[in-house]
Amino acid sequence: MEKKLDLKNIVLIGRTFSEYYRMFDIHNISKNERILDVASGVSSFCAEARTLGYDVTASDRIYSFSVKDIEEKCTKDLEITMTKMEEIKDLYKWKYFKSIKHLKEHRKKAYEAFIWDFKQNSKAEYVTTEYPKSYFKDKQFNIALVSHFLFMYDEHLDYEFHKRVIEELVRITSKEIRVFPIVNLKCEKSLFVDKLIEDGCFSKYEIKTVKVNYEFVKGGNEMLVIRVQ
Ligand SMILES: C[S@@+](CC[C@H](N)C(=O)[O-])C[C@H]1O[C@@H](n2cnc3c(N)ncnc32)[C@H](O)[C@@H]1O
Repeated sequence: MEKKLDLKNIVLIGRTFSEYYRMFDIHNISKNERILDVASGVSSFCAEARTLGYDVTASDRIYSFSVKDIEEKCTKDLEITMTKMEEIKDLYKWKYFKSIKHLKEHRKKAYEAFIWDFKQNSKAEYVTTEYPKSYFKDKQFNIALVSHFLFMYDEHLDYEFHKRVIEELVRITSKEIRVFPIVNLKCEKSLFVDKLIEDGCFSKYEIKTVKVNYEFVKGGNEMLVIRVQ
């Protein structure tokens, strides 16, 4: 049987600032940039980055739900995902995370930091958004970061959906869209990556893959960069 992370729906699992920093080469993003975290879920990136002086807005469809509902769902999703990880742990590099236990602790810290911040700032910084549509203004942000939403779920979200999300991000972003990872749940490069690069709708933009200093899924160490300037 083929090995893959078998998740019925898109899970509520969150990553931290230190992971985003490496996944998206944040070292070359200035603190003056207006950053949008796309499908940010229970990641602590927004909370941590704002503390460090970055201008970040988080956007996800879950932000209309109560803290209690979000907490229940992400606690359950973390348990289920970590149990499934046991069977497929050889698809991952255990360097940044030493073990499944270490990974689970890290993910728990991420959602706890998110929940704490969401309770204080839910209106201003956490914007309920159901992509591909958003209510942000044209070029409201300079940089959009998309972590573990597009490409990863290419079995559940079709090419048309990917294209419409990117079109919306092109509308609301003035400089760059960065997407990580470009592998799917089978840990294979998504076929949608080349399809998007070759899609005539985006031919006026520079689109390229860039190697980054983060590899948890083996071979998953590239982000897609779309320059919309
Ligand atoms: C695996 S989580 C990734 C969270 C975060 N980006 C990270 O890497 O830590 C995927 C997120 O996508 C969100 N999501 C799924 N479909 C969405 C949609 N159509 N619009 C907005 N968010 C969506 C889910 O609610 C979930 O929070």
